Amino acid sequence: MTPAIELHGVDYAYDGGPPVLRDACLTVEEGEFVAIAGPNGGGKTTLLRILLGLARPAAGTALLFGEPAHRFSRRATLGYLAQRSRLGTDAPATVREVVSAGRLAAGGLLGPLRAGDKAIVARAIADVGLEEKADAPLATLSGGQQQRAFIAKALAAEPSLLVLDEPTAGVDPGAQESLARLLERLHRERQVTVLYVSHEFGAVENVVRRLVLVRGGIVFDGPPSDLPGAWHDPSHVHA
Ligand SMILES: Nc1ncnc2c1ncn2[C@@H]1O[C@H](COP(=O)(O)OP(=O)(O)O)[C@@H](O)[C@H]1O
Ligand SMILES: [Mg+2]
Repeated sequence: MTPAIELHGVDYAYDGGPPVLRDACLTVEEGEFVAIAGPNGGGKTTLLRILLGLARPAAGTALLFGEPAHRFSRRATLGYLAQRSRLGTDAPATVREVVSAGRLAAGGLLGPLRAGDKAIVARAIADVGLEEKADAPLATLSGGQQQRAFIAKALAAEPSLLVLDEPTAGVDPGAQESLARLLERLHRERQVTVLYVSHEFGAVENVVRRLVLVRGGIVFDGPPSDLPGAWHDPSHVHA
């Protein structure tokens, strides 16, 4: 089967800057759940942007489902929660409206949602546990609930690849742990490929089987239990 993601020998630097990534190699099969961690500035967001085809590597190749990532033809099947992708807290839209926007974008729809689309939106809201908040304005939700709403928005597009860049930033530790478990369950139930960048390594350590550490390149790729002892020191993982 064609892997969902293939990076081979990827180098990257921003204009005139120092190398951000060197010789990054990563293969993710369809249906995998991969946690990505590493220090601030380590290159996690840059790596995601390259594998999604939003940035072009200086050297090496990036393939998405076998196609060159920057020319990938099925963009609507990619669910991407960019870092700090929150609306302002004054956003008047309700959870259902935000999630419906994800469905509209997926179908290239302009008009009102059909019954089938509405059912998909309702399922996405239920899947993240926000049924009781479905018609509440996003602004009235907690930070963790708002992030769940954005995950539901991505799910409404029925993505084959879900990429989340630090969705738990600014969310309390309990909510981070429960978000990691939610993502693991969605992955299992929907068979979606998940790449989850978490700043808080502790929140994912007990949930994931494959962890990739990014620090100027990929410095570890394997089960968290195989991490060298020093990597458990939070100073390696946090800023
Ligand atoms: N748009 C940009 N222009 C110049 N440098 C950038 C830009 N974005 C990120 N960088 C630099 O690239 C490095 C990696 O950043 P990033 O990929 O955001 O790391 P992470 O997501 O792990 O915190 C950092 O040194 C950062 O300062
Ligand atoms: Mg980042």
